[in-house]
Amino acid sequence: MSLDFLGLPPRVGTPLFLAPQAGVSESPFRRLCREFGADVVSTEFVSARGILGGNEKTRDYLRFHDEERPIGIQIFGSDPSEMADAAALVTDVYAPDYVDINFGCPVKKVVKRNGGSGCLRDLNLVTRIVQAVSAATHLPVTTKIRSGFDETTRDPVRIGLTCQDAGSRMVTLHPRTREDMYSGSARWEEIAALREALEVPVVGNGDIRTGRDARDMVDRTGCDGVMIARGSHGRPWLFSQARAALDGGVPAPDPGVEERFRICLRHARNAIAFEGNPTKAVIEFRKHLGWYTKGLPGGRKIRADLHQVNRLEEIEERLSGFLSSEGSDEAPAGQTGAAA
Ligand SMILES: Cc1cc2nc3c(=O)[nH]c(=O)nc-3n(C[C@H](O)[C@H](O)[C@H](O)COP(=O)(O)O)c2cc1C
Repeated sequence: MSLDFLGLPPRVGTPLFLAPQAGVSESPFRRLCREFGADVVSTEFVSARGILGGNEKTRDYLRFHDEERPIGIQIFGSDPSEMADAAALVTDVYAPDYVDINFGCPVKKVVKRNGGSGCLRDLNLVTRIVQAVSAATHLPVTTKIRSGFDETTRDPVRIGLTCQDAGSRMVTLHPRTREDMYSGSARWEEIAALREALEVPVVGNGDIRTGRDARDMVDRTGCDGVMIARGSHGRPWLFSQARAALDGGVPAPDPGVEERFRICLRHARNAIAFEGNPTKAVIEFRKHLGWYTKGLPGGRKIRADLHQVNRLEEIEERLSGFLSSEGSDEAPAGQTGAAA
């Protein structure tokens, strides 16, 4: 089986996915990453119960622009019939390109109610959820998993096979357990083992920080797609570097500070336009400001300043103040072309 259901142009070899990320993979960031070469994007995980309750915040999570396509809406929950109803609702109302089920979230509040990676303790439940969701929508249904709940349940191949057999058309693996959270290294060899075992496409995820990493993951695992989360924070251009490496080229160096700030401001303006409430949007954007200024000489000072901003004009002033100060001539620490 292939990734044809994503309708990607033939020139895309191994597609690059922007990972679902709560509070990060929102519409403005998704559009930016698409411009830089992400081939597929996803909403953050949205609770099935929240979708059925239809509150305003949930509707914001689900909104997207057509230029973001192909896009998946990711849902989570532990009740198969609620998950099915939520899938049917997002299919009818939002019409994404696919519906992804979250079996990976490690957050206590979610796991406690058997959502996210909590489901990995009961593979019968995984089967029932995937079957119920698949029966409720005509869209392709996909799954995103971790390697297990803890070391005793660590068995990514069994979990992946369970998803496939229940109807999942693609499986993304972040090869850490729930217990691992983000510690240690992602075990890419588990992605290779899953690729060997499944007929449906396998997307590899975990610890892609440079363009070269994306290439290495494909070479070492044979995965059908590469998904990136943290490496793109404040660095959406990582997707173009990854694309260059996957196509056999040499990734361009990271952009200089001025260009970085231009990208940051474009992102900020889009975030404000999307949110509607400018102050709230800027406060929520502060985390991105921290990421865009990471590694800059004198970065601690500017990050502290940016942490106080409430208005777009303040962001503009602080960034241009930084550029006109001496520090801006220096290359950002640890962000040279070699790092790409
Ligand atoms: C801030 C943040 C929020 C996340 N939210 C989600 C989510 O909503 N759904 C999901 O499946 N994974 C979520 N993840 C996990 C990522 O999608 C990804 O699996 C993980 O970060 C490993 O990839 P990376 O090494 O490229 O960061 C989140 C990760 C981060 C850092």
